[in-house]
Amino acid sequence: MEDERAPIEPSGLNPGVAHNARVWNYWLGGKDHYPADREVGERVFGMFPGIVHVARADRAFLGRAVRHLAGEAGIRQFLDIGTGLPTVDNTHEVAQRMAPDARIVYVDNDPMVLVHARALLTSTPEGATDYVDADARDTGAILKAAAGTLDFDRPVAVMLLGLLNFILDTGEARGIVRRLMDAVPSGSHLVLTHPTLELGGEANAEAMRFWNEHATPPITARSSREIAGFLDGLEVLEPGIVSCSRWRPEFADLGEAPSEVAQFGVVARKP
Ligand SMILES: C[S@@+](CC[C@H](N)C(=O)[O-])C[C@H]1O[C@@H](n2cnc3c(N)ncnc32)[C@H](O)[C@@H]1O
Repeated sequence: MEDERAPIEPSGLNPGVAHNARVWNYWLGGKDHYPADREVGERVFGMFPGIVHVARADRAFLGRAVRHLAGEAGIRQFLDIGTGLPTVDNTHEVAQRMAPDARIVYVDNDPMVLVHARALLTSTPEGATDYVDADARDTGAILKAAAGTLDFDRPVAVMLLGLLNFILDTGEARGIVRRLMDAVPSGSHLVLTHPTLELGGEANAEAMRFWNEHATPPITARSSREIAGFLDGLEVLEPGIVSCSRWRPEFADLGEAPSEVAQFGVVARKP
């Protein structure tokens, strides 16, 4: 997949080392990646071809979860941490199609995502979008910056899709979720996706080991039990912690994609 568009090189970025946001973009069929990203992306694909279905199923889950939240659940505010490079149907586009007054704050720590962030700032006039360049561990800075756009007295959907897998220590990851969910009121939601070896098998484990030797940031898989630990005190919506492709699938999702991918998806509500 050769790319004719030379990516801009923002400061702090090392194009020689594959980085998750850009490799994820490669698996999604995007254009914002360097040769090192494509090489690692291809090697991982060679070991675990299901990775492409994981990336696509994750985005399709994002669409269904946001449609549910902006529709039935009446959520108007979204805090999307670990946003990734802009692609088709970013959170604000899905949410504002349902609810033009929806307000979205995106957060990522990748310099390349920052460079492309203006593509995420195309809000409807009734709504708003903002972008915060921060590490997910720095919840204080994230909440402070997001308060310029979001009203933390009203429900917020906290979205951590494909993000906690980069926080290797489970206790630290739980602390991040707890601090974020403590900051939002009753009626708020948590949306998670997370890779797992419970659905992927040995090929996925091998691909993750390869990733950790050749790319950044390092990644970890988690079990459904560990995912459940992130949801303490929350009401888990049906159908629970499942392959994200199996979370309320719609007719359009039932094409040639496999019915199960090695990525859990779950939505939970703060009572
Ligand atoms: C697998 S991508 C997922 C993108 C998008 N959420 C999705 O589901 O399609 C993970 C994103 O998390 C970002 N990320 C990884 N570690 C992070 C951290 N500690 N703080 C903020 N963002 C992080 C990466 O830069 C990347 O854009």
